[in-house]
Amino acid sequence: MRRRSIQGMRGLITGASSGIGRELAQQLAAAGAHLLVTARRAEPLDSLVESSQDLPGQMVAMAGDVTDPGHRTRLCDAVQQRWAALDLLVNNAGVGAVGPFAEADPERLRGVFELNFFAAVELIRETMPLLRTGQTPVIVNIGSVLGHRAVPCKSEYCASKFALHGFSDSLRAELAPEGIGVLLVSPSTTRTEFFDRLLERADGVTAGAPRAASAASVARHTIRAIRRGRDEIILTPGGKLLVWLDRLWPTLANRLIARYAP
Ligand SMILES: NC(=O)c1ccc[n+]([C@@H]2O[C@H](COP(=O)([O-])OP(=O)(O)OC[C@H]3O[C@@H](n4cnc5c(N)ncnc54)[C@H](OP(=O)(O)O)[C@@H]3O)[C@@H](O)[C@H]2O)c1
Repeated sequence: MRRRSIQGMRGLITGASSGIGRELAQQLAAAGAHLLVTARRAEPLDSLVESSQDLPGQMVAMAGDVTDPGHRTRLCDAVQQRWAALDLLVNNAGVGAVGPFAEADPERLRGVFELNFFAAVELIRETMPLLRTGQTPVIVNIGSVLGHRAVPCKSEYCASKFALHGFSDSLRAELAPEGIGVLLVSPSTTRTEFFDRLLERADGVTAGAPRAASAASVARHTIRAIRRGRDEIILTPGGKLLVWLDRLWPTLANRLIARYAP
């Protein structure tokens, strides 16, 4: 475990226009990190930058679609010009889809993977030269409890987060000799715009949970884990219970989920 200081950290955060990404950006800047923030919507990004004017960390925004290789190149060029190094990459941008798999258009699967997996891992590949010159560098991948234990009617989303989980574990071991950390953050249901912005929601299928965490609390735990040099965090007691039940007694987990999951 490598302890890190947030003060003076140079970071790139995707999906910063709302929810967990926006909270992370605000809390990191309040702790003194300098940030390049990105998402497709320019207006909420600009208001984020505006609201951070008095914080110790400087923030700049660059709007664009992170699934577009051209936008990812522009982000890397901006980091190169500004700092010539990167200490923190947060792959947070993500999207869900809810509904039975067999009836879904194949584009739903492609769309979820394009953002949740391919964009994230390609951005890692593209920022690697910058991370290699960073100080105590760390890659933070925002996964999900559903990347540890899958549930019905979210097959594409669960698969994308399982893929990110497996990728993170492999890359962590690969980059350990270089001193580059990989932190996988696995939130449970969180109150954000996520469920209003699904790629698709099939009729009659519910999504979300009555008791959801706040984005501020996810951001707080993430920053603590960055500071402490953690490899992985599962955020809520319910999330931990689900993951441990699945590890210790998978047949029971399968039965309970098939019977009670929405
Ligand atoms: N909310 C939950 O219950 C929950 C639970 C577990 C894990 N997570 C994960 O947490 C992460 C953040 O989600 P959230 O809950 O904060 O949801 P959110 O409020 O909908 O935030 C998603 C962010 O991703 C950005 N985004 C979407 N498509 C993009 C694209 N093609 N290019 C660039 N940015 C894009 C969105 O901004 P624009 O629309 O402006 O591009 C937004 O800033 C996701 O990876 C999600 O899977 C969420």
